[in-house]
Amino acid sequence: MDDRKTIKDFETVALDEERDAVVIIDQTLLPGRTELISLKTAQEIWDAIYLLKVRGAPAIGVTAALGIYLLTNRIQEEDFERFYQKFREYKEYLDSSRPTAVNLSWALRRMEKICLQAGRAEKKSVEEVKEILRREALLIREEDVEVCRKIGEYGLTLVKPGDGILTHCNAGQLAAVKYGTATAPIYLGQERGYGFHVFADETRPLLQGARLTSYELFSSGVDVTLICDNMSASVMSKGLVQTVFVGCDRVAANGDTANKIGTSLVAIAANYYKIPVYVCAPTSTIDMETATGEDIHIEQRPGEEVTKMWYQEPMAPEGVKVHNPAFDVTDHRLIAGIVTEYGIARAPYTESLRAVMEKKRKNS
Ligand code: MRU
Repeated sequence: MDDRKTIKDFETVALDEERDAVVIIDQTLLPGRTELISLKTAQEIWDAIYLLKVRGAPAIGVTAALGIYLLTNRIQEEDFERFYQKFREYKEYLDSSRPTAVNLSWALRRMEKICLQAGRAEKKSVEEVKEILRREALLIREEDVEVCRKIGEYGLTLVKPGDGILTHCNAGQLAAVKYGTATAPIYLGQERGYGFHVFADETRPLLQGARLTSYELFSSGVDVTLICDNMSASVMSKGLVQTVFVGCDRVAANGDTANKIGTSLVAIAANYYKIPVYVCAPTSTIDMETATGEDIHIEQRPGEEVTKMWYQEPMAPEGVKVHNPAFDVTDHRLIAGIVTEYGIARAPYTESLRAVMEKKRKNS
């Protein structure tokens, strides 16, 4: 890493109009190297999302929004319907890169809606539609900062100075644009002298907790301790954790929440030790069309991520069967609250989440 800068000086995802590219931090190289890469083609954007060069639900959504603007801005068509046909092809392609984080399809649908509104309903020219798409993509990116800050403010009401906070995976700045979701209360608390002690689960198999969360918190001066995934019950049993904050990839209408594999184990242990588990969820991650966690499509990833990826030598016998779901579902009964930018939803979630979404609808 460039030693003049901390990770906070870099942008997770940005649009570089001069280079006609979406620029991301390649997160697969962290924490060893901080390298920015330019994504120019549909395939490069798709690969970056699939290979987790950019990852985390909000960051994936922002990448898709900037990406579809970038790709469709190059379409040489004056007829809107032909332009829209190509827009749809890019949308479907980008949407197929990862299935669980709803922010991906949410951002693409939002871009499609504004495209149709401008081009079909308002009969704007294709050039005007392109400019509207540009503004919408940048707005999605900008909004993420404010949304996360608000989640941080609500989250901060749930903790006290000096508390121990445990988090799983990376729902930090690297998973969003700034602040992150689960880390937002931590960063705001740090600015206000709360003196939290954070435990970051390493998060097997892709180690987002070790490589990304412990890195970004440590380099920001937060008191963070890295633990292996199988140590969370141990630190909880010793009274070192007062609150669990995690992010999420999709919240179903009943409050069941998909997040990085291992989150449900953390929640089960926390409930045993009577530690509240809060899911930090921008409303873009709440999917009212998915009734329960059972309806959430869980991404399965290659077995090599478990057997080989982080080792000089394979650490499992060649050919052994591997089960590698990228996410699990935490039952809503294990969740003390869902912290959104419109307040904290509590059980019964079918009602409170509906109320949150209604508040959002009225506000927009
Ligand atoms: O596979 P990843 O690294 O994209 O998984 C990320 C998570 O599970 C995060 O906790 C989630 O996306 C929330 S990010 C604010």
